[in-house]
Amino acid sequence: MSELRVAAIQTSPVFGEPAGNLEAALDLVPPGIDLAVLPELCTTGYQFRDRRELRDLAEPADGPTSRRLAVRAAATGATLVAGFAERDGDRLYNSSLLVRPDGTTALYRKVHLFWDEKLVFAPGDLGFPVFAACGTTVGMMICFDWIFPEAARTLARRGAKLIAHPSNLVLPHCPDAMVTRCLENRCFAVTANRVGREERIAGRRLDFIGRSQVCGPRGAPLARLGGDAVGAAVARLDLADADPRLTPRNDLWEDRRPDQYAGD
Ligand code: ACM
Repeated sequence: MSELRVAAIQTSPVFGEPAGNLEAALDLVPPGIDLAVLPELCTTGYQFRDRRELRDLAEPADGPTSRRLAVRAAATGATLVAGFAERDGDRLYNSSLLVRPDGTTALYRKVHLFWDEKLVFAPGDLGFPVFAACGTTVGMMICFDWIFPEAARTLARRGAKLIAHPSNLVLPHCPDAMVTRCLENRCFAVTANRVGREERIAGRRLDFIGRSQVCGPRGAPLARLGGDAVGAAVARLDLADADPRLTPRNDLWEDRRPDQYAGD
C-alpha cells in the first residue's frame, strides 16, 4: 500500500475514567482510516497524585484497553495506537500499544520521562523498536521523546516510515519541532495530543496544548488541529515521499559522516 489515510485523535479525557475515555476517543476515529493514533495516557488522564494511584489505574499490556482496541481494529480494519498506563509486575510504564486489525500488538515504553512522571513511572526499557503495520514500517515514541532528536532518528534509521506519537503536550514547541523531525528523517509522524487542563496536585496546573497533527518529509504539517476542541486531524499520505534520496546525488543515510560527528 503506498497511500495511507491516517488520523491524529485529539481528546479531552476525564481523569480516572478509562473505559469512558477510550470510548470517547474511539468515537472520534473517522471511517475509512488505515491508522489512527490516540493520545498519551488517553484512558487514565495524566496527572497522578502518587504511585499508588497510578498502580490502581494501570493495566497489563494485554488488559482491557488492548482487548477493546483489538475489537475496534478488527471491526474497522484500522491499525490503532494508544497511550496507556502499563503495569508489568511491580513496574509501571508510560506506554503505547499498537493493535493491528488481526489482533496482534506491539508495545513501546516511554524512554524520556517528563517532569513528575519520573516520580511514578519507570523509564522505558524496550528501546525504539519498529514494526510492520498497515503496509509500512511504524515506530512509536511518546510526547517528550520529541525533544531528543535521537528518538526519531533511531526509528528512522531502523526503517520507520511513520512515527506514531501519542502525546500530552504542555510545552508549545513540539508541533513545529516535529515538522523538522520529519524533514530531517524523511518520514511521517502522527502526533495525537489532548486538550483541557488538570490540576490534581495543588499548584501544579497543566494546560494541554492540543494542536494534534500529521506531518511529513516535505517540511510542513499536512493537517493540524487547534488548541481547544476534540477532533481528528486527517491526512492522506503518499508513502513514496518517505524516501531518503533527496537529490540524484544525496541519500540521507549514505551521506551521513559519523566519523566527523562528535561522540557522546
Ligand atoms: C509529556 O511528555 N507528556 C510532556
